[in-house]
This record gives sequence, C-alpha cells and structure tokens, in this order.
Amino acid sequence: MDGSGRRARTALLAGIAMTLASPALAGTATRSPFGALADGSKVEAVTLTNGHGISAKVMTLGATLQSLIVPDRNGKADDIVLGQDSAAEYLARPNYFGASVGRYANRIAKGKFTLDGKTYTLETNDGPNHLHGGAKGFDKRLWKIDSVTGGAEPKVVLSYVSADGEAGYPGELRVTATYSLNDNNELRLEYRATTTKPTVLNLTNHSYFNLAGGSANKDVMAEKVTLHAARFTPVDATLIPTGERRAVAGTPFDFREAHMVGERIRDGRDQQIRYGRGYDHNYIVDGAPGTLRPAARIEDATSGRVMEMSVTAPGIQFYTGNFMDGTFFGKKNRVYRQGDAICLEPGVFPDSPNHADFPSARLDPGKTYSNVMVYRFSTDR
Ligand code: BGC
Repeated sequence: MDGSGRRARTALLAGIAMTLASPALAGTATRSPFGALADGSKVEAVTLTNGHGISAKVMTLGATLQSLIVPDRNGKADDIVLGQDSAAEYLARPNYFGASVGRYANRIAKGKFTLDGKTYTLETNDGPNHLHGGAKGFDKRLWKIDSVTGGAEPKVVLSYVSADGEAGYPGELRVTATYSLNDNNELRLEYRATTTKPTVLNLTNHSYFNLAGGSANKDVMAEKVTLHAARFTPVDATLIPTGERRAVAGTPFDFREAHMVGERIRDGRDQQIRYGRGYDHNYIVDGAPGTLRPAARIEDATSGRVMEMSVTAPGIQFYTGNFMDGTFFGKKNRVYRQGDAICLEPGVFPDSPNHADFPSARLDPGKTYSNVMVYRFSTDR
C-alpha cells in the first residue's frame, strides 16, 4: 500500500472508530404542569425530545398526544397534530384529538353486545350507536404518570384504572399507555391492559395528523397516503360494518400505491364514500395481526415530511376529519374544517363484539392485552 492509500485507510478507520464511540444523541423527558380542570384537578404533561429536533408532548388528561413537533426538509420545526391549547378545551370537545380512546375505540352497534350469554348495554352517543367508549371515555379521564425516563430513549408510562361497570363494561380494567421516542425518529406507543372479569376492549390513539404543520394553514387533500391493506370493511349508513370484507381493488379505497387524499374523496359513485362523507373506514392491515408490520405512510410534498406507521393490530381506521365543520377552533385559534387532518387508528375492527368472525375484542383475566403502534418520521431529502 502506498503512502496515500495508507493515509486514506487510517482516516477511514478513525472515522469508523469515532462513529462507534460517539454516544447516542441525548433525549430528554420533562414533566410540566398543563393547567387544571374546572373541579381544580391538576393536569400535567411530559415532553419527550430526541437529538433530531422531534418533540412529543403527552398530557395526563386522556393520555393525549397534545403536540408533536417535527422538522421539515429544511429543518424548520412545526406541530403536525391537531389539538387544543388547554385541558379544559379538550374536555369540551367531542373530537378525541390525540387521545387514548377506550374502552372501545370506534363503534358498537346500538350500544349492545353479548358476552358469555349476558347482554351489556352501553351509552349511545353517536346516533343509534356507542362511539369511543361513550361521552366520558378514557380520553376524558385523568391518567396517572407512573414513570418518566430520560436518556437514549426517553419514555413516559401513564396508567388508568377503569372501575368494574364503568360506562357499562364488565371487569375492572387496568390500562397503561407507554410513549417512547428513539434516536431513529420513531415515536412508539403501546397500550396494555388486564381485567378482573371477561370483557371487551379496543384501545387506540386518535391523533389527527397534518404533515404540512399547523402554521402552513392547509388541509390534507394533497398529502399522499399509502395503506398496506388489500381489503376494508364496508359500513352501513350509521358507520357500522356490514360484516363484508371487500377488496379495495378498483375502488376509491385502494391506497396500496400512494394517492393524494383528495384524488377520489368526492367520488360519489361509491356509496361507501357517501356514507363516510369521505374516508371513515376500517382497513384490514396486510400480514399477521400481533406482529409489528407496515400499515400506512403519509407524505407531504410541501414540507417534505414523511410518516410511516407500523402496527400490531388487525385493522386501522382511516378517517379524514369529515365531521369537523369549522364551527370551533383548536391550537393557535385555528379553525378546523372537514379534511384538515388524517387519523390512522389501529385496533380490532369496529363493532367486533357483534361479529363472531371478526378478530376478537375479548380479554380474559390472567391475559394481557397489547396494542403497539410506531410512527417513524423522515423527510424526502
Ligand atoms: C370515527 C369518526 C368519528 C371520529 C371522531 C373516528 O374514529 O370513525 O366517525 O367522527 O372518530 O370521533
């Protein structure tokens, strides 16, 4: 090897040594007050940051992802989730912004289900149906902070104990929500639960994403979505699944290749689009439930932000904010209108307790429920 070759080799080895020796970028987990509710109870928040400018703020009311700051392709940070500025406003709104939803995310037909021969009646808070655990679901409860950890992978664990019979569901349910953020720009969220009696549950997170960022003042019609799902579950006029598993091929529901949200959202020939007022449907995620696998991807051409989502759940609800009507405002006094955000809510299928052939929502004592979702952020250059 000649002199220059040796020098190049030495430089290369030094580079590798430096990379190996450099510690993981430090993350932080910081606890702070987040105001109080009308009854005086204090709300707290925990902000997780990594060394790449990502910051996720989780508040104890509803174990809610209250803000998610992500840099764009030029490094400019912005908040990419919808929400409210104060805890009191979250209590007043029926939108479930960023919330942990339970006991049963999405709908249960007529608010009734039968388990081991006994019929349970739940509140009907969405026309004839039960939605998102009722008017005072997990999103409206104060969760406890169990632990806050900094370091390479900052993490917060929140918990909530739902009393036997709460909202009409059987069994005392102990639930945790664990949010963590790593150096690979992945926000990971896991819901776990145990019960004292056989019950049904479906816990999910209800974040409303707008990758252009709050200050861009844009809807999501030009954001491109990919859904790794060959089938979805069509619904009736009240958004309850009919039981069919329909192929997306040849319909406006086919997102196996990236399409702009707005491209086919007004295709009135498809009755499912009319029932949902756009997209408000459960997709059957390809691959084996229980294993973490790609479910969705969103790309925003203006900011360059990309979000990839992997899930363990059998399904994912794709909802385009169709019921936001511009009559109220969220963070920074911004009015939220139809189509301002994309929700991707992983879980079992809607109304599973009334469909024997859907993946089961049942949890028995001695078993631990788990639902994991990972959101990975990057930019297009
Ligand atoms: C449902 C929508 C509902 C929204 C807000 C979504 O999960 O599918 O129909 O309007 O949540 O509650």
